[in-house]
Amino acid sequence: MAQIYARITGTGSALPERVVTNADLEKIVDTSDEWIRTRTGIQQRHIAADGETTGDLATLAAQRALEAAGVKASELDLIVLGTTTPDIIFPSTACLVQHRLGANGCAAFDVNAACSGFVYALGVADKFIRSGQSKKVLVIGAETLTRMVDWNERETCVLFGDGAGAVVLEASEEPGIFATCLHADGGFKHLLYNPVGVSAGFKDEPNHGVRINMSGREVFKVAVKTLDSLVDETLQAAGMEASQIDWLIPHQANLRIIEATAKRLNMPMEQVIVTVDKHANTSSGSVPLALDFAVRSGKVKRGQNLLLEAFGGGFTWASALLRY
Ligand code: UT7
Repeated sequence: MAQIYARITGTGSALPERVVTNADLEKIVDTSDEWIRTRTGIQQRHIAADGETTGDLATLAAQRALEAAGVKASELDLIVLGTTTPDIIFPSTACLVQHRLGANGCAAFDVNAACSGFVYALGVADKFIRSGQSKKVLVIGAETLTRMVDWNERETCVLFGDGAGAVVLEASEEPGIFATCLHADGGFKHLLYNPVGVSAGFKDEPNHGVRINMSGREVFKVAVKTLDSLVDETLQAAGMEASQIDWLIPHQANLRIIEATAKRLNMPMEQVIVTVDKHANTSSGSVPLALDFAVRSGKVKRGQNLLLEAFGGGFTWASALLRY
């Protein structure tokens, strides 16, 4: 029997209308455009309007991906959505999006792996397709992370943005996803976390204590080191050489982390998709947003090999090596 691959047949993305530049942030906190650009590569971010939710962005991104794939929502047999900022506690945002798309009846669930959420969701969806369980799957990464941002804290508020991206995966005899690698180490919780929740309880603080706590410098160091070994592991799992990768599509947290990974792969930055300048860190949204931008701008073409990777709170880290 021929090998079944999960193949991307359509991509889509969505961003809130409102753009906030570094100059805008200079008016709110003690920061500078120069600091933000040189330390992170970020120039601007999109921020959701009041009432605009993760589900709104996810639905729009999904509709665009379905249209690009020529697949009707009713044909889907699974929706997996990576997010850390669900609209409500339950039902899952995947269920809310499913209903809005008109895909009622198919399996739908969220994956919370912080910034690695989309790549985790892609890994899960790949297994469903390879096993023969699913034929057409919608995978989404969507966030309104700025809702967790403390706008008085310059260390974090300049880093994040809102957005969503989606892909349609279909079972195919043509490759496809070659390999996915998913990892986590909960021992690093203290370096990047949001301290409150339904079970642990909320706090009598602004925004009920909902805020991102990050030890930036420590996260940076572990991220660079971990992504180094992740790249090797992924190439090995796919039986490929670094020279066979056409494009690196990394998590868009910091341009310096992206450059370090590219260097490790011996790849010039011309082969790296960078959107952190325009979108900042959109957590689960970042990789599929970058992918959709690369596809729609004509950079990424059919038949090319793409390496997707992400790193985030948990810590979690994940990769996918695929032929587009
Ligand atoms: O997506 C999930 C994974 N997250 C990440 O990958 C983030 C990883 N970390 C980073 O990207 C970087 O560590 C940051 C961008 C967060 C920070 O860059 P850094 O080069 O590690 O700076 P730092 O934290 O060591 O801070 C350097 C200085 C400090 O001042 P002193 O102590 O040297 O006087 C900070 O107080 O920069 C100061 N600083 C700022 N200055 C102006 C911190 N934030 C700002 C700011 N504007 N927004």
